[in-house]
Amino acid sequence: MTKPLTLAIFQSMMPGGTAYGSWRHPENTAPDYLDVDHWVSLGKKLDAAGFDFLFFADAYGSPDTDDRFFDIRIKDAGIGAADPLVVVSAIAAATSKLGIVVTASTTTEKPQSLTRRYATLDHLTKGRIGWNIVTGSGQAASARLFGEAMIPHDERYLIAEDHIQLSLKLWEQSWDDGAILLDRAAGVYADPSKIHDIHHDGPYFKADGFLTVPPSPQRTPLLLQAGTSGPGRDFAAKYAEAVFLAGGDAKHVAANIADIRERAERYGRPADSIKFLVGVGFITAPTTEEAQAKRGEMLSFSTVESAAAFYATLTGIDLLALDRTKPLGDVKTEQGQSGVERFSGADGVPPATVGEILEDYRRNGVNGSIFVGDPSTVADQIEEFIELTGADGFAIQPYLVPGTYDDFIELLIPELRSRGLMREQPEGSTLREHLFGEGRKRLPREHAGAQLQTPVS
Ligand SMILES: Cc1cc2nc3c(=O)[nH]c(=O)nc-3n(C[C@H](O)[C@H](O)[C@H](O)COP(=O)(O)O)c2cc1C
Repeated sequence: MTKPLTLAIFQSMMPGGTAYGSWRHPENTAPDYLDVDHWVSLGKKLDAAGFDFLFFADAYGSPDTDDRFFDIRIKDAGIGAADPLVVVSAIAAATSKLGIVVTASTTTEKPQSLTRRYATLDHLTKGRIGWNIVTGSGQAASARLFGEAMIPHDERYLIAEDHIQLSLKLWEQSWDDGAILLDRAAGVYADPSKIHDIHHDGPYFKADGFLTVPPSPQRTPLLLQAGTSGPGRDFAAKYAEAVFLAGGDAKHVAANIADIRERAERYGRPADSIKFLVGVGFITAPTTEEAQAKRGEMLSFSTVESAAAFYATLTGIDLLALDRTKPLGDVKTEQGQSGVERFSGADGVPPATVGEILEDYRRNGVNGSIFVGDPSTVADQIEEFIELTGADGFAIQPYLVPGTYDDFIELLIPELRSRGLMREQPEGSTLREHLFGEGRKRLPREHAGAQLQTPVS
């Protein structure tokens, strides 16, 4: 049965993207990432086209100066990186429906400050903000920047658990609905009996006090998650309303989605209460030959060294130092594990060799899937991928900004709409409604956060 896809635009506030070297293309405006007009004009374009949301990746884990890949990452625009949360209100002011999701790490941010900033943005965007919850990529460099020892991978997920519990309490329990009275005649701004201290005594975070920001349209921003290691999938099953996954082999993607849906049911959540968005590149043109030529041009900028450098930043593994004819084997990393598991094989698929991983990363990047062809061919590829994986939509990777999106809007959207795969406009006014339908502004009853909700007065 055909249903409309959830469609997000993947961006980071950086000059380089997930297609290595594509910033060098003369038509790529990504290096304007520090110009507010760049974001406002992109936001307006995406809003008018009817995309569900603009997604910002973000991390403190920049390349390390004493890393042997440092020069490659710097030359290839793997840095700078600015803070995308700061540009959200400018984009929101210029748009009316477009959701905006920003990644923030539970390892780096404190719940008290993070909840305050997202609650403020939920007001300023009129309910269109989302938080992509991660435990953080590039942890070795991030820990060094903060002057801390690197926290082991699984413990970072224990911190995430404590973080989200406190964050949900702050958003859901601090204020009753109806607390703001704004009674000028009586001189009462808000009803003191409707504001409550929350008490949290967790293993990593403690708090006695309340969130100073009154309840916003969504109260809790839409909760997304990225990271598909075992603990990552479990965290997603418990808390995520949308999961962002790398693409690649359809069987592997399908297994991750099925596993998270199954775990969600064990946590008392319906299997369809989580939307799965796969990171995919789309290269389309009026004819398949032209699209393939564009693909060839894109690959001409991408080197094995760039791919290896990106892989090392995320996983801590130096593929160039390993035997290219052999699989990774039992390599253990305390950094991101999704990038290792993606190539570990399963279900009759053998593990990839180091050489194959390098070539896959060079060609397809961190997110793994590229669909190439004329609009009808790409729409067929989309339908097949959705059928094979059970995904709900895509995070669309840029090759050229805004060229990739212009092609998508002008060529693919009419084809998708004619097949019932894309709405004219997202549903409702808030981001949560875009994904789950009109009227669903707040967390659903079965979500762990909703069980903390104060009664509506
Ligand atoms: C497709 C995808 C995109 C991600 N984007 C980010 C990001 O923007 N920032 C970040 O810190 N982590 C990001 N991560 C998540 C980190 O890899 C993750 O939080 C953590 O480092 C390790 O999780 P894992 O071992 O479960 O992969 C992403 C993960 C995936 C699979």
